[in-house]
This record gives sequence, C-alpha cells and structure tokens, in this order.
Amino acid sequence: MWQQLLCVVVVSLSVAHGQCEEMVKGSVVGNIVQDLGLDLQRLKSGKARIYSADNMEYIELNKERGLLLIKEKIDREVLCAKTTPCALHLQMILEDPMELYTITAEITDVNDNAPSFKRDEMKFAISESAVVGAKFMLEKAYDPDVGINGLQSYFLTPTDYFALKLHSQADGSKNVEMVLQKNLDREKRESMSLLLTAFDGGEPQMSGTVQIHISVLDANDNAPVFTQKTYKATLTENAQKGSKIITVSASDADEGPYGKITYYISNIMEGLTDAFTIDEVSGDVTLNSELDYEMISNYQIDIEAKDQGGLSDSCRLVIDVLDINDNRPSISVISMSSSISEESEIDKVIAMINVNDPDSGENGKVDCAVMDNIPFVISSSSSRLNFFSLKTQQQLDREKKAEYNITIKCTDEGVPPLSSNISVQLHISDVNDNAPVFEKNCYEAYIVENNALGHSIFTVKASDSDWKQNARVSYILEDITVNGVSVSSYVSLNADSGVISALRSFDYEQLKDFHFRVKAQDGGSPPLSSNVTVKIIIQDQNDNAPQILYPVQTGGTVVAEMVPRSADVGYLVTKVVAVDVDSGQNAWLSYKLQKATDRALFEVGAQNGEIRTVRQVTDKDAVKHRLTVVVEDNGQPSRSATVIVNVAVADSFPEVISEFTNFNHDTTYSDNLTFYLIMALVVVSVLFIFSLIAIISVKICRWRQERQFYKSATNLPVIPYYPPVYADGTLQRVYNYEMCGTTDSRMSDLKFVRPYSQNTLLNVSRAGTMQSVKKEQEDDELSLEVSFFYDVLSL
Ligand SMILES: *[C@@H]1O[C@H](CO)[C@@H](O)[C@H](O)[C@H]1NC(C)=O
Ligand SMILES: *[C@@H]1O[C@H](CO)[C@@H](O)[C@H](O)[C@H]1NC(C)=O
Ligand SMILES: *[C@@H]1O[C@H](CO)[C@@H](O)[C@H](O)[C@H]1NC(C)=O
Repeated sequence: MWQQLLCVVVVSLSVAHGQCEEMVKGSVVGNIVQDLGLDLQRLKSGKARIYSADNMEYIELNKERGLLLIKEKIDREVLCAKTTPCALHLQMILEDPMELYTITAEITDVNDNAPSFKRDEMKFAISESAVVGAKFMLEKAYDPDVGINGLQSYFLTPTDYFALKLHSQADGSKNVEMVLQKNLDREKRESMSLLLTAFDGGEPQMSGTVQIHISVLDANDNAPVFTQKTYKATLTENAQKGSKIITVSASDADEGPYGKITYYISNIMEGLTDAFTIDEVSGDVTLNSELDYEMISNYQIDIEAKDQGGLSDSCRLVIDVLDINDNRPSISVISMSSSISEESEIDKVIAMINVNDPDSGENGKVDCAVMDNIPFVISSSSSRLNFFSLKTQQQLDREKKAEYNITIKCTDEGVPPLSSNISVQLHISDVNDNAPVFEKNCYEAYIVENNALGHSIFTVKASDSDWKQNARVSYILEDITVNGVSVSSYVSLNADSGVISALRSFDYEQLKDFHFRVKAQDGGSPPLSSNVTVKIIIQDQNDNAPQILYPVQTGGTVVAEMVPRSADVGYLVTKVVAVDVDSGQNAWLSYKLQKATDRALFEVGAQNGEIRTVRQVTDKDAVKHRLTVVVEDNGQPSRSATVIVNVAVADSFPEVISEFTNFNHDTTYSDNLTFYLIMALVVVSVLFIFSLIAIISVKICRWRQERQFYKSATNLPVIPYYPPVYADGTLQRVYNYEMCGTTDSRMSDLKFVRPYSQNTLLNVSRAGTMQSVKKEQEDDELSLEVSFFYDVLSL
C-alpha cells in the first residue's frame, strides 16, 4: 500500500508551516517564498537548504520556484501510526546572513486502509442452555487509519439470535460484544454462521468481515419419553426362562450422553426383584424365573428410562400370565375301609376321596373314574365339589375275587388333559356262603376180598370255596345198617382226611357190595354241609377151588361108566360137572385128562368136561379103565380139583361086575349099575331142561326190570353184573335162580337176578339129597324168589 501522501507545509513568520498530504513524488507541499515572505533571489543567494534532524528526506526544496516538493512518498501510518496530528519538522537554513526557518509539514491521513480482523473466522461453542442476555466478546477489527478513516462501526448479520453491543473503552476504542437475544435450541439448530462486518468512516467507506461460527452445544433439556405410558404383555405359564417378553422404548431428543438412555426396573412387587430383567440399552424385558399362574397371575412392573443428565421417564409394564394345564390333579384318600364283607349291600361306600387341581378354569375341573372292569363306581358327592365317593356296584363274592386293587384315575379337562391315579387295595372278607362240594356225585370204590384190617379203601374229598374256618371240611359217616349191621362196623372214616378204611376182612362170596352216605361239613357258623353216596364193591379173589359135583367121589363105592364095545368113535362116556363159587375168571373152569390107563382111547372136552372115546373100542381093550380128570379154574394162581372116573368097557353088566368085583367088593354098587346109568341120562335131560328154563327166566326178569325202571325213574336199580356166558354144558356158575311171581296171578315169572346169591350156602351132600326150595319174599311186589337146588344123584 504505497499511497500518495499530501503534505501541507505551514510556514509561520519565522517558521514556515506547510501541510503535506501523502502525495506522489514531486507534488507541491507548500510555497516557501510566499509563506515566509522571501524572494527567490534570497533563496539562491542564501543557498537555502532543508535540514531534517532525523535525516528523513521526504521533502525537498525547489529553489528556482521557492516550492517544497515531495521527495519521497510519505506514509502517515508508518510515520506516526495512530498519533495525530502527524507532522514533519524541517529546518531551512539560509546563509549570508545565516537564517533558520522552521518548517512544519503536517501529514494528513488518507483512507488507505480497510478495517481488518486478525483471523478469518471466529468460532464459538455455546450451550443451548445459555440464557438470553449472555454476552460473547468478539474480536475487534483493526484499522490503521485514524480519525474518520479509522474503525467506525460493526455490523452483524443475521441478527435473529444475537445482537451486537459496543462498549466504549477509556482509550476510546470499542469492545464488541455479541448478546444472545433468544434461547438457543440445539434440537432445532445446532449450528449457525454469522457475518461480522467492521466499517471505517472514510470516503469511500471500507470494511472488513469475519465469519462467526457458532455451534450450539447440547444441554440436557430433554427428558427421555416412553413411547407408551403402559405396556401390556401376556405370557403363558410355561414360558421358558430367558424368553423375551417385550421391548420398551423411550426416546430422548438430546444428543450424546444427554440423549443416551438406560432402562431399568424401578419398582416391582415385593420379592420379585429378580423375576424379570431388562436390557438397559435395548429395553428388552426378559423372563428370569419360572412362572406359576397359580401363585401370581399378573405382574405390574415400573420401568424407568434415564439419560445421563439425570432426566428420566417411567412407564408401567403389565404382564398377564395365562394358565397352562400344568398341574396334575392330586388325589388323596380321606377315609377308606380296607376290607368289606362279601355280604355287603350294593352301593356301600368304601372310600371318600378328595381331588385337587390347582389349575384354573377347565384346567382345574376334574372327573374321576375307576379303571379296569371291576364292580366299583366312583361318583362325585353332590354337595361338595372335588369330593368323590367310591362305592360297590354289584354284590361281591369273595370266592370269585378276594382282593381288588382299585385304581382310580382322575383327569382334568385341560387340553391336553392331565391325569393321575391312585390304587387302593380292598379285601373282601369271607362269609360262610358255600357248602362243601364233593368231587363226584357218588363214589364207587373197589376192594378185593380177604383184605387186611384197616386197609384204606378210598378217600372222599370235598372242597369248600370259603376261607379258613369256613372252608375247613370234616367228614362224617352217616350211620345206616348193612345186612342188619351198622355200617360203622364195616368201615371207618377219618374226619379230617376223608380216608375210608375197612374195619373187617370182606368175603366176596358173602357180601358183594354195600353203600353208605358220607357227609362233609364246614367249620362255619352256622355250618353248611353236603352228602354223597359211597358204594363199596368187593372184588372176587380166587379163594375157592372148583368143586366137582359129578361124578361124586365116595369113599368106598366105585362108580363106573359103561361103554359098550360097539361104541363108535366120539361116544359120550360121561361128563364131569364142576362148579366154582368164585366169579369171573376165577370160576372159569377147564378140564384136562391127567392120567388114563389107555390115553389113546379117551379124551376130555377142555371146555365142557365131556369124556368121549377117541377111537373104536376093540375087543382087545381092557374092561376096566381109570381116568383122572383135573378141573382147573382160570384164577391167578389157579386152583384145581381132581376126580377119578372109572370106565367099564363091556357089553353086559355081568362082565362089568365080574371085572369090578375084582377091585371093588361092594356088590350092591354093581347091582344098581343099570339103574344108575338110566339116572345119569335123566340127570342130563333135567340139566338141559333147567338150562332152557334159566334162559327164559333171565329174559323175563330183564324185561320186568326194564319196566320197573321206566316206571320209577328216580329209583335207579342196581344193574347186576353178568359174567360172560361160558361154553355149553358147564354149570359152574348158574345154579341159583330167582322166581318172581305175583301173588295175584299165581303165575310165576322166572327171574334170573344174580349169578350168586349172597345167602346161598351150597351144600353138596355126599348122599345127594335134594334140598328143599328156599323161599324169600322181596319188596312190596311180593315177588317170589325161589331158589332151586337140584340134586345130583350119587351113583
Ligand atoms: C394288588 O397289588 C399288590 C401290590 O401292590 C399285589 O401284590 C397284588 O397281587 C395285587 N392284587 C391283585 C388282585 O391284582
Ligand atoms: C398311574 O400313574 C402312574 C404314574 O404315577 C403311571 O405310570 C401309570 O401308567 C398310571 N396308570 C394308569 C392306568 O393311568
Ligand atoms: C343228603 O343230600 C341231599 C341232597 O344232596 C339231601 O336232600 C339230603 O337231605 C341229605 N341227607 C342228609 C342225611 O343230610
């Protein structure tokens, strides 16, 4: 900035004054000649020159014209800075005569400088909380010019928030302040830019500007605000620990720490401080414990949000817990009878049960049922809820089931339903309601005759389905008579074991069977009993040897059979007749020729005992023959009898007699030989007739028995035992007959009843007497039982 300076030189009488502005070089500052009243000659003669004490030669003297000229450009600001007025002091020296003139040149200012600020911009950080009227010192502008050319005024734009205020200082300078006119709000405007302009008063006016940057600092003027005053959430009771429930959210218009919100639970019900947690940054509320609807069904939680400036807001979180069917019914037996009698009536209450389900609503409604198909029911007692009574549904029977495990299952009505069960044990106590029962309707036991005394024949057994004493069976023999004798003399009965043993040795030939009744009685009170018929059948033993009826063996007499010499082959000489009082196999007889004088001539029929010739009799054959025949029964071991048969082979009695007198001196015997032969023939014929009668009577008796049977079905007749019919001829079994006849008709029915009569004692007399008919009356029918004994004549 190199400006022209104007110099004004002021020259006084002795002192020349000049004004010089900051002018260009050569510019006229003042006229010395004029101001000092000198003439140009004097200047020349006097060798006028300019003297400056500080050797600064800003101004030179033009002697020809008497003018002061700018020698060098003058800068007032350099020369005087702010000092006013600014003057240059010069001396003009003249010689011949020495004259000194003082020249003062006042340097006037030119507005050559604009106001300026040191910095290009100013920065302020002002809190939004700054109050209206707050002052902010601004940097002053600087203008080196002086006076009117110096700094005159400031101007600030825009002025909506700030106004300028100038303070005059003692030194005349002015302090510039910026005064807050209106509250700042960072949230509306966080920064602003102002322009401060400084003006001087020169002509033309000059100005300088500076940018003012204001950043509005945040103040915690906003509290956090929750988006809702009340939050609502529902949770199921079974919600997992750690599950997120809801997120609460608050906002804060502030920034930085004042806008940083932390959440926390400020208030919760007593003792539940740890039940929920909140994430202090995100506001997520999570479950931190197990829920139980039955304990707490609703939670009220106060949540606070706080910024770091300490401002806060609160909200309420309401959590409703939804019931889940998470509780099984709990069953408790209030009272229970552990045992009831099998006689108890239907609907008898056995137990009272209380069921409790803490769930609510349907989840807590419970119904109970008896499991399995057992005769019990459970029903809700009408008066009070949750009380049930267990009752019998049917008549109980200990004999069918003595113990019940009753399982009661209770189920609630939740979805899915929950159930629980209990088992109770019930014993059915016994009542003596069952009589002993024999294993069979009637018993038949067999014992072989000639048994040992005390031989146990048989065991009766009755069972009683009752219990203990009520089932303890004892056996009692009911006394009846068998053949006029008390049955208790035949058999004994063990009361505990039911073993029947023989008290005597039985003889089949005398007693073939008998029956009696056995009573079984239990130990109940009153006792129950039942009875059964026991029939004892005595079995035959081969204890009788066959007995030979014919030919009769006499001590002294010799019996001989006559065989004519003309007899053909197969001539029937005689027949050995034998009986055996045993029965069955024991009475099945067989005949054998044991010894013979001539074995080639005779044979014995093994079945029928017939002695026949085997070959033609010749003249050479001896007259006298002696045959030994053995009769053997079929028992084990077999028993036998022998008979000696004398046979005479002759054409005439004298021949026989003469022969036999040789070995038998009983002459009366031989005299009667012919008679005997005739008698033998008669006997054979009679045998045949009786056989016929026997067969017919058997048929008739059977027919009668059948008729009786159908007449009275209750009276079952004892079916007689019929041994097999043996081969013809042998009379070993059948020679006892019963004749049945009605008294009215006098017509006799012949009835064959038994192969042997118990009462028949067979006496075969050696003399062959004919026994009289023995009559016996039987039953009401007055049938006659006639026993025929037929006689065999001894020869
Ligand atoms: C009942 O249960 C008991 C054990 O609890 C068992 O010993 C008994 O045999 C059961 N009775 C029936 C009849 O199931
Ligand atoms: C009874 O409950 C037990 C467990 O307490 C369970 O194992 C059983 O299956 C249940 N019985 C019935 C019949 O529901
Ligand atoms: C034997 O039992 C029958 C029924 O089985 C009964 O009628 C009878 O009276 C009983 N007899 C005795 C002597 O108890």
